[in-house]
Amino acid sequence: MFHDFTYPAVLAAATRGEWQLDDVFPPGSTLDFTRPFMPASLARTGAVEGLNDEQRLTLNHIRGHDYLSIFGLVEEFILPFVLDHARPQLRGDDERIRALLQFASEEAKHIQLFKRFDAAFTAGFGHDCAVIGPADAIGAEVLRHDPLSVALIVLMIEWMTQSHYLDSVRDDGDLDPLFANLLRCHWIEEAQHAKLDTLMVEALAEGRDEGAIQAAIDGFFEIGMFFDGGFRKQSEHNLVAFEQVTGCALSDAARAQMLAAQHQALRWTYLGSGLVHPQFRKTVGALSKAALERIDEAAPAFA
Ligand SMILES: [Fe+2]
Ligand SMILES: [Fe+2]
Repeated sequence: MFHDFTYPAVLAAATRGEWQLDDVFPPGSTLDFTRPFMPASLARTGAVEGLNDEQRLTLNHIRGHDYLSIFGLVEEFILPFVLDHARPQLRGDDERIRALLQFASEEAKHIQLFKRFDAAFTAGFGHDCAVIGPADAIGAEVLRHDPLSVALIVLMIEWMTQSHYLDSVRDDGDLDPLFANLLRCHWIEEAQHAKLDTLMVEALAEGRDEGAIQAAIDGFFEIGMFFDGGFRKQSEHNLVAFEQVTGCALSDAARAQMLAAQHQALRWTYLGSGLVHPQFRKTVGALSKAALERIDEAAPAFA
């Protein structure tokens, strides 16, 4: 066993680390649009050629908006998934059920927090930024897969939030303080979710032979590629928003370069940074050596 995660320990840590919405985003707060929202390592505006500083900052803000929207969107399918996992065993292990309900409740709170940020973003930015969706359709597509495939996707998402906060700290102290605190608070609660997801993956994998594990990995990649198509579409939405806000009409070549660079930035943010996370890799490796090899082969395309 490569970890010592248990329901009682997770429940105790989750209870200690719990925060309130108003502490993270007090009502009436406004975002500081003179500062970046996203760590440079995720926004990757430097990879887009020919932008001045002001345009890079605008693109960073647009990336902040997609972060709020896409996390809001994925957490909408994580919530029912966790409840469905909890439901069949409501008796016998009180700490398991309490830990899973706490997890679901925190995701519902995060969805609400992302919506608060989103409203403040739209008010301050002055333009609507389009987002992929609708969330219901995306959730239905994800949840039609084998629960082990879905649990692996959720595990990857939870671990990536850990890197996202650490990147923001490593990066600079220049981020908008509300956004920096959002990443920090998400990191605190997601640290416990990642442990519960590890236990979930192990429970769902129990008794499966190598063929059944590989089939779940096939499903994991199917969901990943479905999202990758969505991130390409989101990059197009971001480009349209960028042109509208800056009044900049890009040449076809500049548009293609920006689209490719930003698609790769979204890939890294929402897929690659999870695929390479050491804890995610450990869980997959404990299921099957061949499964981990497949993850490691795929990861460079999302780097
Ligand atoms: Fe969350
Ligand atoms: Fe979570």
